[in-house]
Amino acid sequence: MKLYKLAVISLIVLVSCQSQKTENKDSEMDMFISKLMNEMTIQEKIGQLNLVTPGGGILTGSVVSSDVEAKIRNGNVGGIFGVYGPEKVRQAQKLAVEESRLKIPMLFGSDVIHGYKTTFPIPLGMACSWDMERIEQAAQIAAKEATADGIFWNFSPMVDISRDPRWGRISEGSGEDPYLGSQIAKAMVNGYQQNDVSASNTMMATVKHFALYGAAEAGRDYNSVDMSRLKMYNEYLPAYKAAIDAGAGCVMSSFNDVDGIPASGNKWLLSDLLRGEWNFDGFVVSDYTSVNEMIAHGLGDLQAVSALALNAGLDMDMVGEGFLTTLEKSLKEGKVSEENINTACRRVLEAKYKLGLFDDPYRYIDESRPQKDILTKENRAAARETAAHSFVLLKNNKQVLPLKKSGKVALVGPLADSQNNMLGTWAPTGDHSEAITVIKGFNNVIGNDVEVLYAKGANIVDDTQYAEKINVFGPKVNIDKRSPEQMIREAVAAAKKADVIVAVVGEASEMSGESASRSEITIPECQKKLIRELSKTGKPLVLVIMSGRPLAISEENELADAILFTWHPGVEAGNAIADVVFGDCNPSGKLAATFPRNVGQIPLYYAIRNTGRPQAGETFTKFKSNYLDVSNSPLFPFGYGLSYTQFAYSNLQMSSTKLTSEGAIQVSVDVKNTGNFDGEEVIQLYIRDVVASITRPMKELKGFKKEMILKGESKTVSFEISEKDLRFYNSQLHFDSEPGEFEVFIGGNSDQLLKASFILEK
Ligand code: NOJ
Repeated sequence: MKLYKLAVISLIVLVSCQSQKTENKDSEMDMFISKLMNEMTIQEKIGQLNLVTPGGGILTGSVVSSDVEAKIRNGNVGGIFGVYGPEKVRQAQKLAVEESRLKIPMLFGSDVIHGYKTTFPIPLGMACSWDMERIEQAAQIAAKEATADGIFWNFSPMVDISRDPRWGRISEGSGEDPYLGSQIAKAMVNGYQQNDVSASNTMMATVKHFALYGAAEAGRDYNSVDMSRLKMYNEYLPAYKAAIDAGAGCVMSSFNDVDGIPASGNKWLLSDLLRGEWNFDGFVVSDYTSVNEMIAHGLGDLQAVSALALNAGLDMDMVGEGFLTTLEKSLKEGKVSEENINTACRRVLEAKYKLGLFDDPYRYIDESRPQKDILTKENRAAARETAAHSFVLLKNNKQVLPLKKSGKVALVGPLADSQNNMLGTWAPTGDHSEAITVIKGFNNVIGNDVEVLYAKGANIVDDTQYAEKINVFGPKVNIDKRSPEQMIREAVAAAKKADVIVAVVGEASEMSGESASRSEITIPECQKKLIRELSKTGKPLVLVIMSGRPLAISEENELADAILFTWHPGVEAGNAIADVVFGDCNPSGKLAATFPRNVGQIPLYYAIRNTGRPQAGETFTKFKSNYLDVSNSPLFPFGYGLSYTQFAYSNLQMSSTKLTSEGAIQVSVDVKNTGNFDGEEVIQLYIRDVVASITRPMKELKGFKKEMILKGESKTVSFEISEKDLRFYNSQLHFDSEPGEFEVFIGGNSDQLLKASFILEK
């Protein structure tokens, strides 16, 4: 559709051949954009910096844009989100390219966080698969489905490291670890963009929320963040950088402040670091009204905060229209420069160019695609497998699981038959009516020899006011007409008739996600009561726990015989759970975030630095770093997860105990499947820098491999360590390694590890 590009060019009366000294390699793009910008009025340039959402569909914020059509016609809109489907996207794009003066196409965005219509497990669940191929595939499928519906700009991946499970959005990221988080960030960007954002089945990725959003104080959403530069550089920033290095086209600024300045107006963050140090050449979009919110942060009125944002390096303003309504005035008053407006406008136009919109603004619109590409059998199969591989088996006494496909199973609990809670939080494009419940999944998988006795047993929560807060996006919690006591009685009666109990309990999907922080992270009390009563029956008790965050489940860990932690598994939830519960799939997930014993231990994560008074062992010692009322150790450590089989680690070997700057050491370990099932194991490599110029973590993940090991088989798994793996940011924020002793650990979780050591010589 070169014709369209010609049409835009033909509108350009005067072509001033000023040489654009942009670093961009694509000089054709530079010339095209320069010509176009020569034709634009200042208000039209500012219009490109405006991102709107018309409302009416799926809301992801508390305000919506007004007069959207008129604004598009007037050239006051650069991008839009919340519009879905070829027909609607075409209509809206038509307004821009046929009715606005310069016919500049719009960006169409959306939050496609864990699948578009084929909803995959919540991101924290997917992270627990430790399977980069599956994660990349999930992102690729999401892109294929979203583009089939006309959406080609994704507000994902969310890569905020979080070590605070009170924070509801821990569900949306990949947990606590910078290394695992970086690998996942890369896999997702690759999945969405496939190295070609202009292809009709790929979408532009947005890495968010830049930066440090996951470190909100007290786990309360949107709260302040305060952190040392060392912690930022070594622990919280690497995942954003990994996404950018993988080529993410866009960055979204976060709501929180960073070093006292809100991210959306933080020049150090958006310019010095992002562009200066990291060479990011895409565009930066604000989060939803985060520019306006700098007023509440105390940074001035709308004009002041909008100028602050533009001058800091923010390019596009999401929904708040501070840019649209104040930048021209600020220009006249000398508060912003034309150069800064031009730079931001150019970055937005470059994204449009790279997406191919100037060749064909309708390139992502094909009315035949939704039918062909969305929620296909193949996509659903991928979601089912990915879900099954993301579940973490936390406990399995006496090999209660897998269940035999015969006998009587009492299937109880408020999430056993709850279609509205399967997709999980942040699935605005998903369709609950497509979700497979656990009871349905059981029936699909069990065959003819299992009898399922169902009872709800409890509400997700009993408190109507609490339920209302969870039900803002539709009914997730239905408070039953029966009394709690009666429901428990029914469940216990079913349990007594059965050979085994499977209780599906946990959080409703909107108990995590945005603005869904919790100060207690236990299973709600009414469900706890149910679990206590079920355990008293003496029947084997299997808990299937759904949740958007790690939970404090010490009591349940005592009461249950087996615990399968499934997060919110997505559209194929029930099938995937049945696959694992009945042994068609052997669980292989490993925790991407530590499970604390109680809320008081938070923040709790494996990569701690030693104190000067470390605790020795588990018992309390005066004048040591420990609690009076709880041990320091987690309930389940990072990297932990069982299988139906067992893996024995032995024979940790190193090719040398000396490493030089140019060389490499091979480290290998033998992993034997000593149990009765074939199974996948995630072999994890951690390193400790024993003596350094700053305090360093006791161990840091530096590598992992997920391997299928057949029963009886032994595999030698090797890793290579080079000097690069030992680098960290020192007090001067130089990224370098320091010579001396290092410890290497390999094992199946961050706690049970074989150990060796080597010396780095420099
Ligand atoms: C606010 C959220 O913080 C962000 O993640 C999301 O992309 C935007 N709303 C748009 O929905």
